[in-house]
Amino acid sequence: MTEPYAEEVRLVGTDAGEEERVVETALRPKRLAEFVGQRKVREQLSLLLAAAKTRGSAPDHLLLSGPPGLGKTTLAMIVAHELGAPLRVTSGPAITHAGDLAAVLSSLTEGEVLFLDEIHRMARPAEEMLYVAMEDFRVDVVVGKGPGATAIPLDLPPFTLVGATTRAGMLPGPLRDRFGFTGHLDFYEPDELEQVLRRSASLLGVDLSGEAAAEVASRSRGTPRIANRLLRRVRDWAQVKGDGTLDLAAARAALEVYAVDARGLDRLDRSVLEALCLRFGGGPVGLSTLAVAVGEEPETVETVAEPFLLREGLLGRTPRGRVATPATWAHLGLSAPAHPTPHGPPAAGGAVQEPLLPEER
Ligand SMILES: Nc1ncnc2c1ncn2[C@@H]1O[C@H](COP(=O)(O)OP(=O)(O)O)[C@@H](O)[C@H]1O
Ligand SMILES: [Mg+2]
Repeated sequence: MTEPYAEEVRLVGTDAGEEERVVETALRPKRLAEFVGQRKVREQLSLLLAAAKTRGSAPDHLLLSGPPGLGKTTLAMIVAHELGAPLRVTSGPAITHAGDLAAVLSSLTEGEVLFLDEIHRMARPAEEMLYVAMEDFRVDVVVGKGPGATAIPLDLPPFTLVGATTRAGMLPGPLRDRFGFTGHLDFYEPDELEQVLRRSASLLGVDLSGEAAAEVASRSRGTPRIANRLLRRVRDWAQVKGDGTLDLAAARAALEVYAVDARGLDRLDRSVLEALCLRFGGGPVGLSTLAVAVGEEPETVETVAEPFLLREGLLGRTPRGRVATPATWAHLGLSAPAHPTPHGPPAAGGAVQEPLLPEER
């Protein structure tokens, strides 16, 4: 059995570990103009911030949504920086009672930006309080307990809430409706990731060749956090085994050491696909059977490996289980079986196709 995969130790995982947060802080763009890609969101935000500055008032509450590692926290910090406003940071999981939120809200200063990360994980009772605070800039502080308790309304100074979530769909409608702007971040194109990498390389003071930037970008799963992480591993390789330059050879060698393949798949991803194709003939196979075959918990396979594989079309999900797609076989360098399973996807190009029966035409 292989060691279990913890998302934070995984080279192509999307969450940042404790140490990584420090490095990330150093690499975060401080201004909107430095923020690479996401043109639409950037344009909209820029307009919104400029208008608020002209009016001299706090901008509408903003919601940022999208997968981990795409720049939500970075943008929240940029908003405060561009406004020249103080920033307060908290997160959904830190708010377990309405009282936690009341404490934060009641200490806000005028124009302050409140960043509420993972807002979908906030405790339910606090949501109600947040609605009122967002809309009427008021919080009802409960004094006392039991039948004698009274709610004292407390006026709040105007502030801007910036909420971030990986699951916009999990936010209750009334909460979503109270944001004046929602920016959805999408995965980055390879040329945008190259830009991120060039910027990070210059901040880290390392020499990154154009070819190496392209190579790392193409293996970064559309995610700046992963691109920056791979860059640091290539830097390690170049400094320890190479001559310090981050060229194509260094990039390839480093990513080989860490078993990150041409599409950014790592050992876990590939073992899932190999089991699916080699042991189960391309499926359909149930999640738990597949997980046992690779020596992992079903939850790990489902939450850590599958989202990217599904997005890339390297895995299919059917009511009868997981199936290989033509792209799965092609990525593993295998040819799809000539007789695909009855409910599986069509065979890959080049494989022998069964002649269609007249009623199937
Ligand atoms: N558009 C971007 N341009 C440059 N760097 C970026 C961009 N988006 C993200 N990054 C970098 O990627 C890392 C992760 O970004 P972060 O804002 O923490 O993502 P999220 O909060 O969405 O998980 C940070 O180090 C940040 O510097
Ligand atoms: Mg974040």
